[in-house]
Amino acid sequence: MTKLGKLFSLLLAGILAIVPAFSQTEEDLDKAMKLVGKTMGELRKANEAKDEAALKAGGKVLVEQFNLSAKFWAKHKMADATEMNKKTLDAAKALADGTGPFAAVGATCKGCHDMYREKLADGSYKLKMTH
Ligand code: HEC
Repeated sequence: MTKLGKLFSLLLAGILAIVPAFSQTEEDLDKAMKLVGKTMGELRKANEAKDEAALKAGGKVLVEQFNLSAKFWAKHKMADATEMNKKTLDAAKALADGTGPFAAVGATCKGCHDMYREKLADGSYKLKMTH
């Protein structure tokens, strides 16, 4: 590899290492939401089984993912989405701490989806920008 080539690949590696930390692209949001959906399925089962440890563990995953999503809404200056995200995050924190019910976590999903989620013909979802 030439010197310049080496420098370039170093730079590229640096950029790739930095980007996920910010989580501000639509792809990051999509990834977070997919994990949220999967975790909610697991939490529903944990709730039925009254499995406290699994409820807390799932709550923690949700806290992480809604912390990531919050950065997306903040970057795009979407105040109402930020607010709904925060409500979900607070409910997830309470669930992770064992101080709040599972039911509270799912209460704010639909409000945001109705406003900002669009279902495509192939059954997948994407962000709907209304303004
Ligand atoms: C503040 C807004 C907001 C909140 C709150 C929110 N979502 Fe989403 N969600 C979105 C948007 C926007 C999309 C579409 C983006 C995408 O998937 O590319 C989405 C997509 C999804 C998807 C589809 C992912 C895919 O592409 O297959 C699932 C599943 C999902 N959300 C679950 C949830 C659950 C469960 C909750 C509540 C615990 C929740 N979301 C809360 C905004 C939100």
